[in-house]
Amino acid sequence: MTAAPATADGAAAEEAELQIEFDALIAADQRIEPRDWMPEAYRRTLIRQISQHAHSEIIGMQPEGNWITRAPSLKRKAILMAKVQDEAGHGLYLYSAAQTLGITREEMTQQLIDGTAKYSSIFNYPTPTWADMGAIGWLVDGAAICNQVPLCRASYGPYGRAMVRICKEESFHQRQGFEILLALMNGTEAQRAMAQESVDRWYWPALMMFGPPDDASPNSAQSMAWKIKRFSNDELRQRFVGMLVPQAEALGVTLPDPGLAWNEAEGRYDMSEIDWTEFHEVLAGRGPMNAVRVQNRRDAHERGAWVREAAAAYATKKAAQAARAADSARSSEKAA
Ligand code: 3HC
Repeated sequence: MTAAPATADGAAAEEAELQIEFDALIAADQRIEPRDWMPEAYRRTLIRQISQHAHSEIIGMQPEGNWITRAPSLKRKAILMAKVQDEAGHGLYLYSAAQTLGITREEMTQQLIDGTAKYSSIFNYPTPTWADMGAIGWLVDGAAICNQVPLCRASYGPYGRAMVRICKEESFHQRQGFEILLALMNGTEAQRAMAQESVDRWYWPALMMFGPPDDASPNSAQSMAWKIKRFSNDELRQRFVGMLVPQAEALGVTLPDPGLAWNEAEGRYDMSEIDWTEFHEVLAGRGPMNAVRVQNRRDAHERGAWVREAAAAYATKKAAQAARAADSARSSEKAA
């Protein structure tokens, strides 16, 4: 009669102890590592955020991949190819970080190609002009840096460490975008107009990358308490706009917000309201390019099936060879 409750009590006491240790590590700004005990909700939140982040990097290859064959010079093509390859690398580090939490790469891939996984809203917009390569680098990678530098201090070790290298590469991406726009702004009237038109299209979607406003962000409070996120969505958005204003002046482009003005009393920029209806439409899969992006990913996955099968067959063959070699080594030992 008493054995089961005693065990349950024992387990509860042990879990309470582990929770205290976990809370103490977080309070002391120490890292949580894969083998450490962690609350189930912490694990789930990390899997959610890291896998969405990984998917964003992978889907994010498409809008720029669109311009590799049409880049205006060999130098531009080489730089763009390197950048798109970097994004693939970021996706792989992040999938690996998520795998340390107990989800498989296959599960994450399946969620992406069957359309149930989220990825950043920004990659659901088209790239009709070369200037979009500049605007993406300057605005999208600029927003990514702003959001991701604090993630280098995320409480989960594998995520924070992956972010260090990712941020170094993002900073190169941001500069190459700025430089593309600068070249266009120093060019002909038509090139300046192309750069401005592209900034007009990407500015608001880039601000949406930071997520919903703080009072409509269901995950922020808990993620900040766990020190996964270090700043709120609105704080980072504000910091980003503050960074952009002098850079826009240096470029000679206008940020397309008539309400943008320095607020001396508050020490920050006032800005117009973001069109959150558009944000929610894109999240619901109804952005301009959602269907194309996921279909392309699905097609690429199907086209890559033979590579996965060949790699698995090769691994099986190598394992069998290793087992035979171990067997024969054991037999020779016995014989000797
Ligand atoms: N696009 C798509 N979904 C978004 C979003 C966006 N811009 N902003 C928020 N969401 C989703 C959240 O994922 C969450 O969905 P879920 O609860 O169903 O999982 C929901 O909207 C509510 O938002 P919250 O603010 O409560 O969610 P978070 O606390 O997770 O904050 C975030 C959202 C700021 C994007 C945070 O997850 C984060 O910092 N993620 C890591 C960075 C990241 O994923 N960046 C994506 C861009 S990658 C990139 O830019 C690549 C580069 O090469 C350019």
